[in-house]
Amino acid sequence: MRKRFVIAIDGPGASGKSTTAKLLAKKMKYIYIDTGAMYRACGLCSLEKNIDLKDMKALEKMLDNMEIQIKYSQTGNQIFLNGKDISSRIREADITKLSSEIAVIDIVRKKMVEQQRQIGKDGGVIMDGRDIGTVVFPNADFKFFMIADVETRALRRWKEAKDKGEKISLNDIEKELVWRDRNDSTRDIAPLKQAEDAIAVDTSDMTIQEQVDFILNVIKKGKRRKIYSFICTTLYFFMRVVWRLEIIHKERLESIENCIIAANHISAFDPLFIGAIIPGEIYYLAKAELFKNKLLDKLLKHVNVIPVKRGRIDKGAIRVVNEVLQKGHSIMIFPEGTRKATSVKAGIGKFALQLQKDIRPIFIKNSVDFWKCFFGKKRLQIIIAEKIKAESFSHLEDTKENYRNLASNVMKKILELENEC
Ligand code: CDP
Repeated sequence: MRKRFVIAIDGPGASGKSTTAKLLAKKMKYIYIDTGAMYRACGLCSLEKNIDLKDMKALEKMLDNMEIQIKYSQTGNQIFLNGKDISSRIREADITKLSSEIAVIDIVRKKMVEQQRQIGKDGGVIMDGRDIGTVVFPNADFKFFMIADVETRALRRWKEAKDKGEKISLNDIEKELVWRDRNDSTRDIAPLKQAEDAIAVDTSDMTIQEQVDFILNVIKKGKRRKIYSFICTTLYFFMRVVWRLEIIHKERLESIENCIIAANHISAFDPLFIGAIIPGEIYYLAKAELFKNKLLDKLLKHVNVIPVKRGRIDKGAIRVVNEVLQKGHSIMIFPEGTRKATSVKAGIGKFALQLQKDIRPIFIKNSVDFWKCFFGKKRLQIIIAEKIKAESFSHLEDTKENYRNLASNVMKKILELENEC
């Protein structure tokens, strides 16, 4: 079953949370829960029942007899309090202030958080508020913290009020936001604050579309990362149990970053096997023909495979490899190019020399002998070498001959590793 995420968006008033969350929910076909509306509903209920916020007994009774319903629709949620539509009433200034006052009360928060967790327990939900990423769903799949300077936020609220025909000055709105920011972030229980693992989004100079696109992009990348790590973890398990994997010089894996990983190539599984043992994500090259299969196309893109057209110089692929390395990622390249090759290609030398990247030779053994490994006669072995530092070849001139020599040296180093098995 496809995993449906919990997405938490926190931040101060008018930072763009609800507009963004609404559009995201529509795009992702998720439910959108505006938790602020729930505290607003509590505030309104206490006002209608004339409850003193210091009277805990009365508040408890109110919470026990209060039913908040959220009806989801593409145009926005409708909020009902004991069956009555309160969607517009709760946006008025007196309720805005009251919501922040009632939200500091422990029993109120407990009740609301319980309901919010219940709504989000199966995922497929985007929840906005002040404490979603810190208290309600500390394990949310994605956490965002939206901010914007107070002048921008006040102007946004003022325009909203003006459009609704309300008469309120910009100055009063700004004062109210500043008061609420302070009240929400200095309270003892679940104060407004950015979760450590939340991504901050400053919307001061962003359009709504830019906000939505930014978040969608993060989710898309995160989704890929989750798939990548799931594939690697599953594969690693099989490599250990079925192939009886042995990694020689495992400690060297930790320092594999922003380099070219160079390995021998004997089986179609080699890139997968090597990728699965390396901590973090790396990039790979594969023949473009593989991407013709729709299923493979999807899968390969999720695991950072760059298609390469064979038989000629693929300028597009070269550009992508350059970009990947320049961005600080690592990429695996087989100096021999293909499995059946009899000679070393100059490509790896060209990338290393031109971009001055370290090279990490790796030797893989027995990846073709599945049954022998399975029956305990052999084992899959992967040997990690010390890195070849870019300093060691930085003096070389940028010539084809030097690319070829460097590539041959790398291949020699890889093959020497067999002696360490
Ligand atoms: O729409 P705006 O961002 O101005 O406010 P809201 O999200 O409707 O929230 C109204 C008030 O409810 C906030 O000022 C907070 O005091 C409180 N609140 C909270 O304490 N915890 C939440 N998860 C959501 C809102």
